[in-house]
Amino acid sequence: MRYIAYESRPPLPPGPNSLPYIGSLITMLRNKPTFRWIDRMMDEMNTNILCIRIGSVHLIPVRDPMIAREFLKDKDEISSSRPDCMSSYLTSDGYLNTYLAPMGDHWKKMRKILSSDILSLIRLKWLQNKRDEEADYLVRYIYNRCQTNVEVTKGVMNVRVIVQQYANTIIRKMIFGRRYLGKGSADGGPGDEDIEHADSLATIAAYVFGFCVTDYFPWLRWITDFDGHEKIIRDSLLTARKYQDPLIDERIKQWKDGVRTKEYDLLDVFINLENPQLNAATIKAQILDLILGSFDNMSNNVEWAMAEMINEPMIFAKAVHELDSMVGKDRLVQESDLVNLNYIKSCVKEALRLHPVSAFGLPHMSTKDTTVSGYFIPKGSHILVSRMGLGRNPEVWDDPLTYNPDRHMNDGKEVVLTDHNLNMISFSTGRRGCPAVNFGTTMTVMLLARLVQGFTWEMPPSETQVDLKENLQSLWKAKPLFALVRPRLPHHLYELK
Ligand code: HEM
Repeated sequence: MRYIAYESRPPLPPGPNSLPYIGSLITMLRNKPTFRWIDRMMDEMNTNILCIRIGSVHLIPVRDPMIAREFLKDKDEISSSRPDCMSSYLTSDGYLNTYLAPMGDHWKKMRKILSSDILSLIRLKWLQNKRDEEADYLVRYIYNRCQTNVEVTKGVMNVRVIVQQYANTIIRKMIFGRRYLGKGSADGGPGDEDIEHADSLATIAAYVFGFCVTDYFPWLRWITDFDGHEKIIRDSLLTARKYQDPLIDERIKQWKDGVRTKEYDLLDVFINLENPQLNAATIKAQILDLILGSFDNMSNNVEWAMAEMINEPMIFAKAVHELDSMVGKDRLVQESDLVNLNYIKSCVKEALRLHPVSAFGLPHMSTKDTTVSGYFIPKGSHILVSRMGLGRNPEVWDDPLTYNPDRHMNDGKEVVLTDHNLNMISFSTGRRGCPAVNFGTTMTVMLLARLVQGFTWEMPPSETQVDLKENLQSLWKAKPLFALVRPRLPHHLYELK
């Protein structure tokens, strides 16, 4: 291994003064949430790359596309591992999954399985009937609520509940072949089990790489759960897995006993992989991985897109016009239409830019000393590419805080949600880029398209503006979006075939 000689070493990126041994730990703890502290510091120091030392770890936040490209494209090979942290170790059951696994043989094996067997274009097609069913349930569910709830709520609905329900049921349908973990609820909404499961997933997602103290001082973990993160993660994992794992065990047994003989969903595919075969523990970790990878990106995105669009009726009208001219009002929009819905895709992309689900992507860890943008990046650094910082960077985007889907329209050419130049992070790029671009794009665009085509959405009568404040602790909308909903298509289209 080659190390850069000390004398010739360039400087570290700029950063706050730090104390011996603990670095900036105390300042970090005093300035929660950490991502907002980092963003403020970057503004104050007028830099797009920073170096914060916590214990012996260098955190390197980045919010400039050129620097992000240097890490994730030019130096992808040495920037593609993941740090070894309590939260990721527990969540992945000792790195049995893909999302959190460090670079190595296991990750390579799992990534290949995902690309060729689980998330390929052929698999996308194979699972289409399951997604179609969920897209039909979606409009029927809203329609039924419009019919039954008018007197009680005057047609006002919680959009967050609707989009989260869709995101959860569609992934469960593709993986387990069922909408609910328990019995569901009579009106087609989530059952108590599904709500508990979804809450635990949200907690895990919030705490994985959540700037936990023991992630930087691993020995402390054996003495104390310093900031309580470990207990929170363990409890949430127990809750999530108490619903998922028995379904997996039962299915493995069905195949073993010869009761099941045909593949219907992704769990069947995982169980029947031959080269290489996966054991039960790996299948369980990988399934949690897929669920975590998908559920909140989609729902956070469409809730924000709807909030911004309802706030700007001209944008909403343009989206409706596109659907009416490309699809019409005599049938529901289908996946095969999505290629023609460039404005709807731009609405999704603009929400990914302005309102990413998390401030940073998962940390990448460098496996060698290197130099980036003229700065020394020590081996073992945690590279934090800022989804929020890139998407809102005024040097890259005009008027970056304004929701303007037109900026992604491409002179009539097809709009895609990916951005391999990293002017924003949608699916990222390189070895660790999202392996589910086609799944993510299809399900997210379809969700928005069905909502916009199927219903009119307006502010509740008591409001004159949608409240677009974001949560202080996360980038989610601070308050769930409520909107006045009415069906806008012929009634027979909402009924299930
Ligand atoms: C709109 C939807 C989605 C968005 C915006 C999105 C975005 C991302 C991003 C930014 C990454 C991290 C890249 C990095 O570490 O540099 C990622 C990784 C990943 N995503 Fe997605 N994703 C979406 C949907 C999905 C879905 C539906 C699945 C699976 C069913 C999925 C599975 C994964 C997995 C397994 C990884 C980890 C890859 C690795 O570490 O090698 N994602 N995604």
